[in-house]
Amino acid sequence: MAPVQFQSKLYLSLSLLLFLPSTVTSQSYRNVPLGSSLTTESNSSWLSPSGEFAFGFQQIAPDGGYLLAIVFDEIPERTVAWSANRNNLVPRGSKLELTTSGRLVLTDPSGRHVWSPNSDPASHAAMLDTGNFVLAANDSSTLWESFQEPADTLLPTQTLEQGSQLIAKYSKSNHSQGRFKFILRRDRNLFLHATHYPEMRAGISYWPPAAGGQYYYTGDRVVFNQSSLSLDLILNNGTVVFPVFNNNRGSSSRDFYHRVTLDYDGVLRYYEYPKSNGKNSNKVWSSVYFKPPNICTAVTGDMGSGACGYNSYCELVNDQNPKCSCPPGYVLKDSYDESKGCIPDFAPQDCRLQEGNSDAFELVDMPAVDWPLHDYESFEFYTEDMCRQSCLSDCQCALVVYGKVLLEEEKSFVEWKSSIRQDREIVSQSEEI
Ligand SMILES: *[C@@H]1O[C@H](CO)[C@@H](O)[C@H](O)[C@H]1NC(C)=O
Ligand SMILES: *[C@@H]1O[C@H](CO)[C@@H](O)[C@H](O)[C@H]1NC(C)=O
Ligand SMILES: *[C@@H]1O[C@H](CO)[C@@H](O)[C@H](O)[C@H]1NC(C)=O
Ligand SMILES: *[C@@H]1O[C@H](CO)[C@@H](O)[C@H](O)[C@H]1NC(C)=O
Ligand SMILES: *[C@@H]1O[C@H](CO)[C@@H](O)[C@H](O)[C@H]1NC(C)=O
Repeated sequence: MAPVQFQSKLYLSLSLLLFLPSTVTSQSYRNVPLGSSLTTESNSSWLSPSGEFAFGFQQIAPDGGYLLAIVFDEIPERTVAWSANRNNLVPRGSKLELTTSGRLVLTDPSGRHVWSPNSDPASHAAMLDTGNFVLAANDSSTLWESFQEPADTLLPTQTLEQGSQLIAKYSKSNHSQGRFKFILRRDRNLFLHATHYPEMRAGISYWPPAAGGQYYYTGDRVVFNQSSLSLDLILNNGTVVFPVFNNNRGSSSRDFYHRVTLDYDGVLRYYEYPKSNGKNSNKVWSSVYFKPPNICTAVTGDMGSGACGYNSYCELVNDQNPKCSCPPGYVLKDSYDESKGCIPDFAPQDCRLQEGNSDAFELVDMPAVDWPLHDYESFEFYTEDMCRQSCLSDCQCALVVYGKVLLEEEKSFVEWKSSIRQDREIVSQSEEI
């Protein structure tokens, strides 16, 4: 009946009081002795002394699998800050054990090892108040810590070392590794990259911006500084090379939870959540800083589908969040997964037929929409009308983009407009609705 978790807040605050004055390193906290275990059924977890973080199983969907995760335990959403098996959810009946020989092992109901950190045998484990779960040796030195293998989130005091990265979730509800990464590469350059998904190889970088500014930010590590609550790229001697998020809001760790997460949409966001115990109904994570400023226009390159899936377009909606949509006449390929892009909702024109049936097609305008790169043809001195005609009479043309150069205060910029080529019938049908 050995209780493996000291869930009583009374006990915990007592131990805090005892420990705090003597600046004992946080690692000396030992709440998980050898021989402890968690199961998906027990609905228990290993809590940090403050009770703010919990290490345990999280069921992802009502009938879905379980994630072994560190969560913000005192907020209703129980937001995941780290997870061990994001690509490999385990079914009910799985077990996490800190064995008597000092190994942490996640096994599924058949006894198969699903995950185990690469560490020397530990003498105990601890869920710390920083949100870091550690395996420690007898002398309290850290053998392994969740902070050194981040998933998609950084917490205050955490650092991102050279060669480490955050990988975004696949979608809002799917915790698998997705299409974007935030990485401090071994060449010391800091980037946001789209990957060659499902390969995790970095593809185009979309931050820092390549045009009109800094191409590289180079440093030794990224620290989430707990006192300034800034996310800084620093040199070994502590010099801040570049403040990724320079927090000047004056919101303390005492009053707010803080996290930096690379979200599934490719945006790196700094979030705050008020801790106040009052029944404040609109307590939510608010994104107070983010990079890049416009994900829709940032993710371009001669390969990949941009910020959204193929054939879909991206626009910033409330709070600068990207929204992916299908152009008129197109529908989601997979209605449960918008990242799979859009497909035409009409039969393509048969190019073996003569020009004759181009009458069956027409262009639907989308003002202020550009489809950058990947063009198969470009004409320089065409009017909008000539552009339209050339697309309508070309059975391979899916859309035409018309760019008009405007001059304003001696600066020129291009106003884009695109026209989607599609079956007339589709349009008339949707107009009737
Ligand atoms: C598991 O724990 C959570 C959080 O404490 C609680 O909301 C939930 O109802 C529990 N589920 C079961 C099956 O006991
Ligand atoms: C911890 O230290 C004690 C005393 O030095 C030693 O007997 C014991 O084997 C150590 N345990 C581990 C797991 O290293
Ligand atoms: C999450 O998405 C990946 C990639 O599409 C897929 O292989 C996996 O089955 C999904 N996981 C869940 C739980 O839906
Ligand atoms: C955090 O910021 C403070 C104040 O700017 C600075 O004195 C301290 O050295 C920083 N800590 C780290 C780990 O960079
Ligand atoms: C830190 O290191 C950089 C590069 O080596 C050097 O330029 C800078 O002067 C150093 N700063 C301090 C405070 O030592």
